[in-house]
Parts: sequence; C-alpha cells; structure tokens
Amino acid sequence: MSLKEQLNRLEEQRNLARLGGGQKRIDAQHAKGKLTARERIELLVDENSFEEFDMFVTHRSHDFGLDKQKVLGDGVVTGCGKINGRIVYIFSQDFTVFGGSLSEAHAEKICKIMKMAMKVGAPVIGLNDSGGARIQEGVVSLGGYADIFLLNTLASGVVPQLSLILGPCAGGAVYSPAITDFIFMTKGTSYMFVTGPNVVKTVTHEQVTSEELGGAMVHAEKSGVAHFACENEADAISRLRKLMMYIPQNNCEDPPWRDTDDPPDREDESLNRIVPDNPNVPYDIKDVIRAVVDEGAFLEVHEDFAQNIVVGFAHLGGRSIGIVANQPAVLAGVLDINSSTKGARFIRFCDAFNIPILTFEDVPGFLPGMDQEHGGIIKNGAKLLYAYCEATVPKVTVITRKAYGGAYDVMNSKHVRGDMNYAWPSAEIAVMGSKGAAEIIFKKDISEAEDPETELQKKSDEYREKFANPYQAAARGYIDDVIEPKTTRPRLIRAFEMLETKKDSNPPKKHGNIPL
Ligand code: HXC
Repeated sequence: MSLKEQLNRLEEQRNLARLGGGQKRIDAQHAKGKLTARERIELLVDENSFEEFDMFVTHRSHDFGLDKQKVLGDGVVTGCGKINGRIVYIFSQDFTVFGGSLSEAHAEKICKIMKMAMKVGAPVIGLNDSGGARIQEGVVSLGGYADIFLLNTLASGVVPQLSLILGPCAGGAVYSPAITDFIFMTKGTSYMFVTGPNVVKTVTHEQVTSEELGGAMVHAEKSGVAHFACENEADAISRLRKLMMYIPQNNCEDPPWRDTDDPPDREDESLNRIVPDNPNVPYDIKDVIRAVVDEGAFLEVHEDFAQNIVVGFAHLGGRSIGIVANQPAVLAGVLDINSSTKGARFIRFCDAFNIPILTFEDVPGFLPGMDQEHGGIIKNGAKLLYAYCEATVPKVTVITRKAYGGAYDVMNSKHVRGDMNYAWPSAEIAVMGSKGAAEIIFKKDISEAEDPETELQKKSDEYREKFANPYQAAARGYIDDVIEPKTTRPRLIRAFEMLETKKDSNPPKKHGNIPL
C-alpha cells in the first residue's frame, strides 16, 4: 500500500470515528438542544488546542450482538487541550454511541487520561452525557466505574476535577461527578439520579418527571449536588472557563494571578453606610464583596443553595482568593445544616489548592430547633468548624456586624488559626444576643423587679453596651484591628500580601476524620 493509500485509510477511519453513532443520532442529539461530544470540546478549549487520544479504541464484548456493533472510540472522546493557555485533560461522552454508556474500554480511556493528568499535574474535565453502566457488558462495566471512582478519589486534592453534566446521567454516571470538585448542570437538558423515574415509580410508587427528580434546579437549590445551574451548554462551558481563572493546575502550584486596573488603595465610601443602624435590619453581603474585590467581579459558587452563606472566587489586588460570607439578607445569615456543609466543602477546596480564604462575618449563631437538631446540625456544623481549623492557607476575617456564640469561634476566629482578624466598628462579639443573655444571667433580678419588662430592657442594654462592640475582643488581641469600613479593600490587599509566604502545617497523619 502506498503512503497515499495509507493516509487515505487513516482519514477514512478518522471520519468514521468522528461520526460516532451516526448522522441520525447526531441529528437527534441536536434536536434535543444538545451538542455532540466533539462540538462541546471545541467550545471548551482554546482554538486548535485539542489533542485526541484513543480514537480507534473499540469494546471487546460479544454478548447481545455487541460484536456486530463496534464504534470507533466506543462512546467517549478523550484527550488534552488548553484553557487560557493552560493544559487540561478532557473526556467527553458521546450519547450517540450506546447512549454514552460506560463499557470496559470506555472506562479504560477515561482512566488513562486521569492517570496522565495526575502525572502531569493538570485538571481533569469530564463532559458527562451517559446512560450509566453499559447494560450488555454486565459486571465488566461496573468494574470500569469502580476504577474511575478510585482514580477520582486518588486525584481529589491533587488536581482539580470539574464535571459538566450535559444530558441524562444515571447510575454510576452520577457518582464519579459527585466525587469531583465542581458540578455544572444545564437547565432542561441534564439530569442526575441514582435511578430514573420508572424505577422510582416501581419502588416508592412516586410519580415524578426527570426534571422533578434530578433536574439542574433541583440539584442547585435543594440537594446542593450541583454548584452551577446553567442556561445551556454554551453558558456552562463559558462558566467553567471562568472558574479556571481562579484555580491552580494542581496542589503544588499557586493559583493564577490576574492583572487589574483596579487600584489597590481604592477606598469605597459606600461601605461606611452599608450596615444599618438597627442591628436587626438586613443588608446584602454581596454588595460588600463586590465593593472590595477587583473590578467588582465575583464568581459565586452554589448561588442557589443555602443562600444564608455566600461562597465564591474573586481576585484581590490580582491575587485569587476564595470568599466565605454570612448573608444577613437571608435568614439573618444564620448557620444551619446546609450552609455549614456548603461552606465546609468550599473551604476544603480552597485549602487543598492553595487559595487564600477571606471570611466576611455577620452571623447570629447556629439555627436552633427540632428540624436542625434531628437533621444533625451538631455534626454538620462541626464540618464547617473542622474545615476552618484544618485549613493552613492564609486566612483573613472581617467581622462586619454580629459574631455571636459558637458561630464566632467557627467563622475563622483567631482561635482556629485566623491569620488576620479585622472588625468594623459596628461589630458585636458576644456569647449571645443581649436580650437572651440578660434573661439568663439576670433571671432572678428580672423576676423580682417591680416592672420585669423595664428591668429586662435595662439589663439587656447593659449587656449590649458591654459586649455589642469589637473592643473587648480587640483588648485580648482576638481582633488585630478595628478598621473603617471604607478602607477594607486596601487593608485586605495588604494583609494577603503580608501573608504571601505564610507556612503552617498540621501534624503528620494518614488523614483526619471529618465528621461526615
Ligand atoms: C447500553 C444504553 C444504555 C445503557 C441507553 N442506552 N442507556 N445502552 N447501556 N446503560 C442506549 C439505548 O439503548 C439507545 O440505543 C440509546 O442509548 C439512547 O437511549 P434512549 O433510551 O433512546 O434515550 P433517552 O430516551 O434519551 O433516555 C436516556 C436514558 C435511558 C434516560 C439514559 O436510556 C435510560 O434510562 N438508560 C438506562 C439507565 C440506567 O438504568 N443505567 C444503568 C445504571 S446502573 P439506540 O441503539 O436505540 O440508539 C449503573 C451501575 C453503576 O450505572 C453503579 C456504580 C455505583
């Protein structure tokens, strides 16, 4: 065979592989408002940067007529490309081939790029669109999933792992993304469930649609499984590319810097007026965040879930930081089960990947009540505490208003290795609110008073006068400085600059035992 003939054969084979499950199924994919596996990769990576591997891999099964249905690539496109000039490893499942289901060979392709990503020290991005384990292959495909779960776990905290869910993901197809760091879902076209509506109907007799069971908004708002609910595939891909601007390639690198024209000494007068005089009146902590960070650009994570805490990424003086902030505009910023787990997971990601953490604190305490206690607020609140205690990256706190009770300790206090702890003059730092405190410690005085109401008010004012300020804490050095709100940006930029070379560590251990 001449070289020309050999090259023609190669091109024919490549074209065959590119066609996946065939034009009819590609058209069906488009008709559902979905892109093909390759179209998605093209949108994701920098132009012409994708190098495909294993295009000619096929499955090795014979049962149920599979030996007559071999498709080059076996339902997943794998390789590496660049995002903003930085290497990423990618797998993109092809729903046109056996519904993107996972065979032994399909799993081997994914494992190959994951192992390579760990050796190279580059993120892994999974574009998921899969009916789960390939049913015709039986246990071999289950083994394939387990191989991926193991690698997901070994790669956790070594390289960032990002999952885009772009179609139905059932069975094993949800557990691999669940171990990864961030999940992006598309509204109306992506679903995640352990078992679909038909099985649910048989087992629990519940009649539900795929959307109700595991659509993007369900997982973004209710379960917290999804970190981003996106309008469509282009939106999901563009948000993932944005996220990459804040995170490093691996756990041995620092996150990327970003040039900014926003002056480091910029003060913001609006911050001097943002906290209302009445401590029970809410304000939006996101206004504070945007006023402080570079160009007001804040990439919020988990925007729709547990909105009483806000987490996300920003740049401050060009430096990438993770922000955790109580949100007084939702449930007064109280800490409950969901906000604790949301905060904890985000902190652990930042710490694993050398991203400094900035905490804005305005929290009345942990949410009391039967629901919370029976749901395990103790062990879930402990996750947030554990995550803050364990984190060794630079950690800076600004108390804008309330820092009450256990929540004061938890939210990166000095005692849990907060490096720089600032308070605005409006800060109130105490064991509990003044009325509750007065009712307990002056119980006898109040009950024996001629006018108990007036006595309660008097004692409550007394407690408030003593503790509803930052100076008791500052006198002990628990607060490093009380700062004028408008100067927050320059003060924080200087703090993180000073902490640039901070080194801290935890005792040697196999791993800790976070209260799960
Ligand atoms: C083999 C599969 C498949 C699978 C879909 N297909 N899922 N082939 N194994 N798991 C094939 C279909 O036969 C069909 O082939 C094509 O993919 C498209 O599927 P449709 O059903 O026509 O598409 P749609 O109506 O969009 O429904 C998609 C779907 C549904 C929701 C994903 O196919 C589905 O429910 N699949 C099964 C899901 C499931 O139960 N998987 C096993 C989970 S157990 P043709 O040739 O007609 O195009 C599991 C265990 C791992 O994953 C556990 C680890 C913890």
